[in-house]
Amino acid sequence: MRKLTYFIACSIDGFIGGPDGDASFMYRFVDEEFFEFLKEEYPETVPTFGRRHRGIDDLPNKRFDTVVQGRGSYDLALKEGITSPYAHLREIVASRTLTESPDPNVEIVSTDLVGRVRELKAEEGGLDIYLCGGAAVAGELADEVDELVIKTYPVVLGTGMPMFASGFDVSEFTTGRVRTFGNGVVVRTYERRR
Ligand SMILES: NC(=O)c1ccc[n+]([C@@H]2O[C@H](COP(=O)([O-])OP(=O)(O)OC[C@H]3O[C@@H](n4cnc5c(N)ncnc54)[C@H](OP(=O)(O)O)[C@@H]3O)[C@@H](O)[C@H]2O)c1
Repeated sequence: MRKLTYFIACSIDGFIGGPDGDASFMYRFVDEEFFEFLKEEYPETVPTFGRRHRGIDDLPNKRFDTVVQGRGSYDLALKEGITSPYAHLREIVASRTLTESPDPNVEIVSTDLVGRVRELKAEEGGLDIYLCGGAAVAGELADEVDELVIKTYPVVLGTGMPMFASGFDVSEFTTGRVRTFGNGVVVRTYERRR
């Protein structure tokens, strides 16, 4: 089985963005040391334009070969005229309103999102699946998440967009690696207890 990994940046108090989801204030924590970590371990989580900008366009994917995101997150790229923000991955976008895919590399899933993700997880071979967010789609896929990689940035927001927009439920995870960086970023990895 391929794993569904929610790889996500958040504040100390667990928000993935401001109340409207805006996470642009987090970019400043991607300094040299932290980018080196991303480059070494998760280069495919850097969007295509960022890879080009940083000169890592040709790095092979290490952990993921597929990305799943909601139309809310995908919109951030679309607004910039980018139709394939993760061109180095197979891109799945959940949307009931996008009737036609804006890009040949992007598959739109409008019905049975959970079923489609289960199919992806059941595929033979390949790398794992990167759940990019945002809160709505992560909330719907919460039960399917096998691993969490949480990049906590040293800020408190007070309020904002939660990691999962879902109802109350206690799901247990075991703690894996914890890495700290000079700028205060902490990356924690968790595996779901099944
Ligand atoms: N901190 C981080 O690392 C991080 C990462 C990613 C995103 N974000 C933030 O998250 C925000 C977006 O999150 P969000 O919760 O507003 O939106 P989202 O989860 O990205 O997308 C929500 C949209 O996905 C579609 N959708 C949801 N469930 C579906 C289903 N079962 N079947 C088909 N389509 C479905 C709907 O699109 P339609 O309306 O088209 O039907 C819905 O409006 C962004 O502002 C971004 O900044 C932060």
